[in-house]
Amino acid sequence: MASMLHLFLLLSCFMVAATASGSGFQSKNEYLFGKIDMQIKLVAGNSAGTVAAYYLSSKGSTWDEIDFEFLGNLSCDPYILHTNVFSQGKGNREQQFYLWFDPTADFHTYSILWNPKRIVFFLFVTPIREFKNSESIGIPFPKNQPMRIYSSLWNADDWATRGGLVKTDWTQAPFTASYRNFKADACVWSNGKSSCTSNSPSSSSWLSQELDTAGQERLKWVQKNYMIYNYCSATKRFPQGLPAECSSTS
Ligand SMILES: *[C@@H]1O[C@H](CO)[C@@H](O)[C@H](O)[C@H]1NC(C)=O
Repeated sequence: MASMLHLFLLLSCFMVAATASGSGFQSKNEYLFGKIDMQIKLVAGNSAGTVAAYYLSSKGSTWDEIDFEFLGNLSCDPYILHTNVFSQGKGNREQQFYLWFDPTADFHTYSILWNPKRIVFFLFVTPIREFKNSESIGIPFPKNQPMRIYSSLWNADDWATRGGLVKTDWTQAPFTASYRNFKADACVWSNGKSSCTSNSPSSSSWLSQELDTAGQERLKWVQKNYMIYNYCSATKRFPQGLPAECSSTS
């Protein structure tokens, strides 16, 4: 992958009726577990209606997926960071956050830690979400299907900004998001085999990494001050009861 990539969203006014448009890239390699970092600088100014996505995904109808999605906004109004985890084709596990920095002013590092025990979303070194392996209570966990890394920038003005009330202003096009310093400390999957062996050197300590006390405190701080939606608190949405993993993860 090139060291710096720019994604453009460009449509002239007469094409606004197009239902979808955008640009993206994907990794050549497939991975099964890893610590993956990407530096991203989001669309500046009026980015309302646009969504920049950065995610891991496997293929097929029972796919696994780990998502970062950045929902654009009018100039000076806050972006929303939308996260989700799919296992075996089932998602509905959204958590959304405001950010404590301007994601358009500079590059920031967005990371995913994915090992057999947990998935942790990080903004630089700050954990913002942990999805633990809850297979012991019957919740499938992404651990058998290799995933690729994808990124895209697209028009989602039917839902992204204030639930779809604010539309993309095409006079502001092209919309540009930039990516650099992609780093995958990861187990590469090829021909049915992982590059990580059971006697992997200590350099892959992320394979058993968990949040230490300081990390857990940081996570609580983010969830208390910046989380604006948590599916685990959405009692109206799940009248039959909250998803089972909600009682075992934060
Ligand atoms: C956009 O700004 C409005 C007003 O501050 C806010 O309510 C909303 O959460 C922001 N983000 C999105 C993606 O709509």
